[in-house]
Amino acid sequence: MSKSKNVWEEFFADKKRGGHRSSAEEFLSKEAREKLYHLNGGKTLLDFGCGAGELLVYYSLEYEKLVGADFSASMLEEAGKRVRGRKCENVNLILANDKNVWEKLDFSFDRITAAEVIQYLTYEKVDNFIASAMKHLNKGGKIILFDLLDPRLYPLWKIGLFSRDFGVDKILRRIAFETRTIFLATLKNRPKDILGYTHKPHTIENIANKHGFKMEYVKSMYYEYKYHAIIS
Ligand SMILES: C[S@@+](CC[C@H](N)C(=O)[O-])C[C@H]1O[C@@H](n2cnc3c(N)ncnc32)[C@H](O)[C@@H]1O
Repeated sequence: MSKSKNVWEEFFADKKRGGHRSSAEEFLSKEAREKLYHLNGGKTLLDFGCGAGELLVYYSLEYEKLVGADFSASMLEEAGKRVRGRKCENVNLILANDKNVWEKLDFSFDRITAAEVIQYLTYEKVDNFIASAMKHLNKGGKIILFDLLDPRLYPLWKIGLFSRDFGVDKILRRIAFETRTIFLATLKNRPKDILGYTHKPHTIENIANKHGFKMEYVKSMYYEYKYHAIIS
């Protein structure tokens, strides 16, 4: 790994999809509708960690001006194809990370959102992200962080407790598999879990409060082990 890139930047360097439960448009449009319900209006939107633009193209139907930012060139290339394919002329895409994105923006937003991204940030980075985001929010704006991994539920999902055909034998096999995966990843100095880090809702709420915001905790509709943090 090159020294200037972090482990996740390296991980996403050649990725082309956001890793939704299904990549069928029917599912993505339903997921986007859930998110648009929580985004709840506004005219301008920053989709931080927009990935391949799988949700962004749906957001673009409801907003006047949008920016999609991501540190993965391959993801942004896919997003570009999607945005052009659907003639989303109100979307601008920028290559940026959680630190330098702020200096690349030339207007502020009614909504700053990130879906399935916060899991790749440490608490310290989340704190910095919220501190910077609040400076780029219009009056009455909201920061809406979608799909954080809930540390109370994620381990249960990983061992298969939420699968429709769960059984003790399957759970034991999953535990053995996960243990082996963690062991091998440690040996190879790779991320132990490609889904990133879990974040306690209470700690995210404390960060939001520290910056003078309130946080509403909402369970994800399509992912049993994820939650949304609506910060306003
Ligand atoms: C799981 S994908 C989700 C993509 C998109 N939000 C969606 O829901 O389809 C996570 C995305 O976040 C991006 N990402 C993760 N950490 C980032 C960071 N620190 N700065 C910029 N992008 C980041 C990755 O490159 C990847 O495209």
